[in-house]
Amino acid sequence: MFKKYTLVTLLLLGFITNIRADTPLKTAIASAHPLATAAGFEILNQGGNVFDAAVAVSATLAVVEPSGSGLGGGGYWLVHRANDNTTRFIDGREKAPLAAHKNVYVDSAGQVKNPRASLDGATAAAIPGLPAGLVHLAEHYGKLPLAVSLAPAIRHARNGFVVGQHHLDLLKYRETVLKQFPASSTIFLVNGQLPEKFALLRQVDLAETLTQLARYGRAGFYAHSVADKLLQAVQQAGGMWTAEDLQNYQVVEREPVVGNYRGIKVTSAPPSSAGGIVLLEALTILSAYDLAKLDKLTRIHLITEAMRRAYHDRALYLGDSDFVSVPMQRLLSEDYAAGLRSSMRMDAVLPSTQLSGDVLPDSEGGHTTHFSIIDTEGNRVAATLSINFPFGSGFVAAGTGVLLNDEMDDFVSHAGPNGYGLVGSAANMIAPGKRMLSSMTPTFLEDAGRVAVLGTPGGSRIISMVLLATLDFAKATSPMSWVTLPRFHHQYLPDVVEYENAAFTEQELVALKGLGHHLKATVNPYGNMQAAVLYKHTHALNAASDPRGEGLATVK
Ligand code: GLY
Repeated sequence: MFKKYTLVTLLLLGFITNIRADTPLKTAIASAHPLATAAGFEILNQGGNVFDAAVAVSATLAVVEPSGSGLGGGGYWLVHRANDNTTRFIDGREKAPLAAHKNVYVDSAGQVKNPRASLDGATAAAIPGLPAGLVHLAEHYGKLPLAVSLAPAIRHARNGFVVGQHHLDLLKYRETVLKQFPASSTIFLVNGQLPEKFALLRQVDLAETLTQLARYGRAGFYAHSVADKLLQAVQQAGGMWTAEDLQNYQVVEREPVVGNYRGIKVTSAPPSSAGGIVLLEALTILSAYDLAKLDKLTRIHLITEAMRRAYHDRALYLGDSDFVSVPMQRLLSEDYAAGLRSSMRMDAVLPSTQLSGDVLPDSEGGHTTHFSIIDTEGNRVAATLSINFPFGSGFVAAGTGVLLNDEMDDFVSHAGPNGYGLVGSAANMIAPGKRMLSSMTPTFLEDAGRVAVLGTPGGSRIISMVLLATLDFAKATSPMSWVTLPRFHHQYLPDVVEYENAAFTEQELVALKGLGHHLKATVNPYGNMQAAVLYKHTHALNAASDPRGEGLATVK
């Protein structure tokens, strides 16, 4: 018996050693669009590394998924380079123009002047960070020139691509706004009407702008002719941008937030995103419970109560840490989590009104994008990119093909209600040059045997989706499980558990009501998670793209 097992073990070890020695470099890419995933592999085939592939995927998503991200927006790239064990967070979030201030959207009585001004058109647009992010990634982490890594995006913009149902649905949602702006209408609509399914979308101006970026680096966007056209269009339409805003824009490399959940190392987004702090705070609260041993109802109840408390702190304390002091150490400490846990009961909710603090409404759009890349050496990128609402502000700066973001709406800008119900505090009020608080949560998870890369779009629900996926990862499941599992969400205010229909049975709904939860089924499933994993001992890779979307995960 002993001999048999020894032999099997030796064979297995030999097998593993062989894989390590001989396995050619492979990569997993999961993104929200098949053309973006293919662009990543195209660049890898040309000798690029995962960071060059990330430039290609980001830029291609900007072209083929214009509802979610773009050169007129911003985003975050969480990167890990294996050879020197570097893990960094590239903050390419948009910044408020220098002319912006905390009362820019309200009158002297504090009343909102025009409720659409922070959502639609040039007045809603902050200074884009995505182009600077691409240049930074290529210059500091990539091997290839931008002319190579941007080539697939330029090709898809120039030659066109076939639009899918997701694109058409979101176009319909923003049709009225896009129609207001001739440069947008000409590109995205056909004679002012929604295109047919399978229509070809060509973006020749955007191809030219990308070409300028490839040729001149950041000056190709933030100076020269593209900047002139951006400024002319924005200023003519009443926007706040100046040449100084564009010249001054810089990405910031930050230390990611890092924590531990029951043996899993969690690396995620620091401010200007709330993502990593809220995720880790909820996980630290939950780490005292052996969730696997609890019945499903108690598990859901405790997870919801942890979300409530962590999102409450999002509202109270979080904003751009370059402008406000964020009590990060305290929020992430075990003692603080223990204090929050002490207010949690197994048999009842603590209504959100009983959590203290002055908060103001804040809003966040749910249409962003995420991709995950990892290779067999462990080099990896988790990137979440956004222009806020679907098709951002709906405003294309004439002659550039660049659809501008409406990310100014992610600030707390007024005391009235908003469409998403998120609340915030002075920490997230508008100031010149400040970054608006985000929920984007690009994340790495690592245990003894696996390294995972994941994230999703979904506005305020991003963080709870990544939380649920992390708890699922802890059960030794695969990426397909993380991206498909039914979702539920609590964000402190409104005091409601939002859930996908598949998340709870009728019996569970009754029992949750009995504990005092207010429940609301979402009309549609939500999120579009993209995840990839490296199994450390075998160097095998796996990846999955959320079946709720139209993305593609590939390993090769
Ligand atoms: N605009 C969505 C977010 O940054 O979370």
